[in-house]
Amino acid sequence: MDLGLRGKTAIVTGASQGIGAAIARALHTEGVSMVLVARSLERLDPMTRTLGAQVGQTPRPAVYPIVADLGIRAEVERVVAQAIERLGHVDILVNNAGRAHTGSFFDMSEEHLQDIWQVKAFGYVRMVRAIAPHMMERKSGSIINIIGTAARTPTEDFIVGSMVNAALLNFTRGISRSLGRNNVRINSISPGWTLTEWLQRKFELQAAAEGVSVEEIERREARAIPLRRLVTMDEIASLAVLLASDRLPAMTGEDVILDGGATPSI
Ligand SMILES: NC(=O)c1ccc[n+]([C@@H]2O[C@H](COP(=O)([O-])OP(=O)(O)OC[C@H]3O[C@@H](n4cnc5c(N)ncnc54)[C@H](OP(=O)(O)O)[C@@H]3O)[C@@H](O)[C@H]2O)c1
Repeated sequence: MDLGLRGKTAIVTGASQGIGAAIARALHTEGVSMVLVARSLERLDPMTRTLGAQVGQTPRPAVYPIVADLGIRAEVERVVAQAIERLGHVDILVNNAGRAHTGSFFDMSEEHLQDIWQVKAFGYVRMVRAIAPHMMERKSGSIINIIGTAARTPTEDFIVGSMVNAALLNFTRGISRSLGRNNVRINSISPGWTLTEWLQRKFELQAAAEGVSVEEIERREARAIPLRRLVTMDEIASLAVLLASDRLPAMTGEDVILDGGATPSI
């Protein structure tokens, strides 16, 4: 299916690894030029080079790394200004940067508590505030927020992260009407357990604590899911690319759950 994305432009946040990197790879394959955002240049640089070396594209889509901490308001505004400067305009925003601080609610430090809100909740909201006027003026744009199933089904070791996800779900739905009047769509994807570097590390720590293998932890987690599998980053990327395209022009304010059936909800 031709998604008609060739020549479009995007900002992908948290694009140096995990879900963000998978989405960046998929958009690049579709011919989208991009700004990739993360805090660490050491991780962002190899990602930019890998995309630059992807074959088979003429002309080759441009890829620009921008190092920024999206938990800081001025940094968000700088990213958007630089992205417009480099790409000319921005058609697609993928809000994905977030840090999962899991563990006991009562043991969580005040610093972590604030960090979760600053980076994911305020980070996503500020990115939308900064880029949406540009998209609305052009009467075109697609925004995708990567949220998470904990938005609807909070988990005991992720209470604050679950709150942030619920707030972002509400934000996505709520802002969709104002954006929609100017032909800008906003949707979200709520992944369940997705095999990223972060989840791999979490399983490694769990395996070490329980004295079992990482494979055993992975099998156990998968067994608890109706489809008996964890989500792959590429599945999330496929969905993100479809939502970014103009193939679903009437879809806005929606959240799509991709979790192997782990958290059925209405
Ligand atoms: N993996 C899952 O099972 C799962 C499930 C549900 C939802 N999600 C959501 O999906 C998103 C991505 O998850 P992931 O597992 O792919 O995470 P990840 O592997 O930890 O990657 C996070 C990305 O965000 C960047 N980042 C973190 N803090 C940042 C900040 N303050 N400013 C700019 N960039 C920042 C990281 O790079 P730097 O560290 O260099 O900044 C990295 O590129 C998150 O919003 C997460 O909540 C994940």
